[in-house]
Amino acid sequence: MNVLGIETTCDETAAAVVCPGEGGRGRILSNEVLSQIAEHAAYGGVVPEIAARAHVEVLDRLIVRALDGAGLRLSDVDGIAVAAGPGLIGGVLIGLVTAKTLSLVARKPLIAVNHLEAHALTARLTDGIGFPYLLLLASGGHTQLVAVKGVGDYVRLGTTIDDAIGEAFDKVAKLLGLGYPGGPEVERMAESGDPERFALPRPMLGRREANFSLSGLKTALRIEAEKIAPLSSVDVADLCAGFQAAVVDVIVDRLRVAMRDFTDVAGHPTALVAAGGVAANGAIRRALTTQAGEAGLAFVAPPLALCGDNGAMIAWAGIERLRLGLVDDLTAPARARWPFAEPVAAA
Ligand code: KG4
Ligand code: ZN
Repeated sequence: MNVLGIETTCDETAAAVVCPGEGGRGRILSNEVLSQIAEHAAYGGVVPEIAARAHVEVLDRLIVRALDGAGLRLSDVDGIAVAAGPGLIGGVLIGLVTAKTLSLVARKPLIAVNHLEAHALTARLTDGIGFPYLLLLASGGHTQLVAVKGVGDYVRLGTTIDDAIGEAFDKVAKLLGLGYPGGPEVERMAESGDPERFALPRPMLGRREANFSLSGLKTALRIEAEKIAPLSSVDVADLCAGFQAAVVDVIVDRLRVAMRDFTDVAGHPTALVAAGGVAANGAIRRALTTQAGEAGLAFVAPPLALCGDNGAMIAWAGIERLRLGLVDDLTAPARARWPFAEPVAAA
């Protein structure tokens, strides 16, 4: 079973071909990603119209490259999976219309994949882990703690009530004059910084529900930065280190709550899993590894190339759904918003 995966929900145009591999894992036959970072850098964030135009300019060539890389023709694939949301609607439409066209012309099943579900299932692509597992999904637009019980069976144990973690990294980077996307820049500066120089808050610590709040932390950092402006590179490094340490403390505390709630809704987890662009952060990965070890759980995080947006995760989610007979037709809608997990209260 070879599935083509197409991703255009944000600022990465991606196409990949994946098939089932050994040990329940997937085998990535090709994985083409074209980042638009350069096109958006001057604006300090993703500009939706620019993103949509950039997708339409490169997507067809990228799909050809993904098929060539896998040594396949379109007629050889068994399904066409596409991220049908959530995301920037112009980009989503381009991916979806392209996938529908290919599905119609080549007479292949269409699988309309939820982008967040694809991040959530990546640990099965890379490590073949079984259900249920506890997932921290942290990207530029989303922060969720989820009990992953099965394909299409997700319970949201917590979420952010304001900024997403990646968004907080991006905003902090912007206010400190660092580049976009901010996560990798803040992490790089934090390496040489003193995390204890500034007393930054740890919002939500000790709260009963596994929710996050990050806007207060960002504001506290801004106030500290304004007090000592103009900032030297040492100041920036110390602020980045202080911010990252606070985020790590918040994640560890929120995860503790989620681990407790997980048992009520899903029993014993097979693993603690991180996904989404923020899962590329070394300090966060180290803290999660320690925490999982203390709880007697394996920690699984995708290799860096599969943390950010990519086509392989869409193709894999397509395989998972296709195996269960979950296919879509040409009426599948493009969705700017598309929650993938039920809130815990409704579970
Ligand atoms: O999943 P992703 O590639 O795109 C979506 O938002 O769906 O995630 C991108 C986000 C950005 O906010 C970026 O700053 C953040 O992930 N990020 C990081 C790191 N690398 C990427 N955040 C913290 N540390 C990193 N090393
Ligand atoms: Zn993403």
